Amino acid sequence: MENNGNDIPSENPEIVAFVENVQEMVRKDPSCIPERYIIKNHDDRPKIAPVALDVPVVDLSLLSEGNEEELKRLDLACTDWGFFQVINHGVAQEVLQRMKNTISSFFELPFEEKYKYAVMSPNVYGQAQSFVVTEEQKLDWADALLLKTDASYLEKLEYWPPGLKDAIETYSGEVNAVAKRLLCAISLTMGMDKESLQDMHKDALESLRVNYYPTCCMPHLVLGASPHSDVSSITILTQDDDITGLQIRHGEGWVSVKPIPNALVVNIGDVIEIWSNGKYKSIEHRAVTNKYKPRISVASFIMPSLDVELEPLDHMVDPLNPLKMYKKIKYEDYVMAFLKKKLEGKAHTKIAKVESL
Ligand code: OGA
Ligand code: NI
Repeated sequence: MENNGNDIPSENPEIVAFVENVQEMVRKDPSCIPERYIIKNHDDRPKIAPVALDVPVVDLSLLSEGNEEELKRLDLACTDWGFFQVINHGVAQEVLQRMKNTISSFFELPFEEKYKYAVMSPNVYGQAQSFVVTEEQKLDWADALLLKTDASYLEKLEYWPPGLKDAIETYSGEVNAVAKRLLCAISLTMGMDKESLQDMHKDALESLRVNYYPTCCMPHLVLGASPHSDVSSITILTQDDDITGLQIRHGEGWVSVKPIPNALVVNIGDVIEIWSNGKYKSIEHRAVTNKYKPRISVASFIMPSLDVELEPLDHMVDPLNPLKMYKKIKYEDYVMAFLKKKLEGKAHTKIAKVESL
């Protein structure tokens, strides 16, 4: 969406073509679920009673001390699950809470007011999907706020309400510190020097996606976020403490990630899957909705600089993984290919896969 003008939606044909704001749709008629949101294939619909297994939990303070046992736990989490929850991460509870409260208050504003901010800002509000490619494409039951938060973009947050700008700045600074410590630990578990992954990112990028999942009267028919893997190197997610919505592919099916209060949920993204030649998994995940309470999550995507050339690291091509699973690709090309397609599980990773595999 181009948000550069000050036009209100009805005067701007580009914006009228947008997918509807789900929160508004539910506010106007909570019983209405348009066809475009209903998942046709029954197997792809959320289960009424999803599997709840505990995803691994790692303690960041132990990781940062170089605790061998904890590093082993992290290695297994990245290999077997691609997801883990992080405790003792050092981000103050107040910072997390303030971020969640501020986001809630923002989404509670009247639509017209949110839209006023959105049209002024170069960042994006309102659209859950990056690209809606076809009329038939199923839509996600969610709205989102997409913000670039690396240094050169922080000033652009001035277009948003001051409270939101402050909360995001503080939160994103703290999350960046966690990301750096996690990348040190993952460098070690990948058999490298502590600073290696950070160096490989060159000037790391960060963008933030605030997801707002309105309630849905028939949550088993829709998805809040379609299955996908993240194009990041790692993603750090804060979510409501009392609402379960995130599900990850594990074993034969989907497993719900039950929130641990104040923990951060971290997943390995495609970049580390490629660097590790598939040893560390960028796992498909999705979000489901519920009848009772809207859910908020904030995903911070840590990414390498766009000019970084991705390919499996030589030392990760070992007797266990003797073939390179991925070919060399510039990160920018990888991201652009992802953005042009609709979310479809891991289909976008094909562009980097070695054909014969
Ligand atoms: C994402 C994502 C999951 C969630 O934003 O990429 O996977 O629980 N979000 O909101
Ligand atoms: Ni994701």
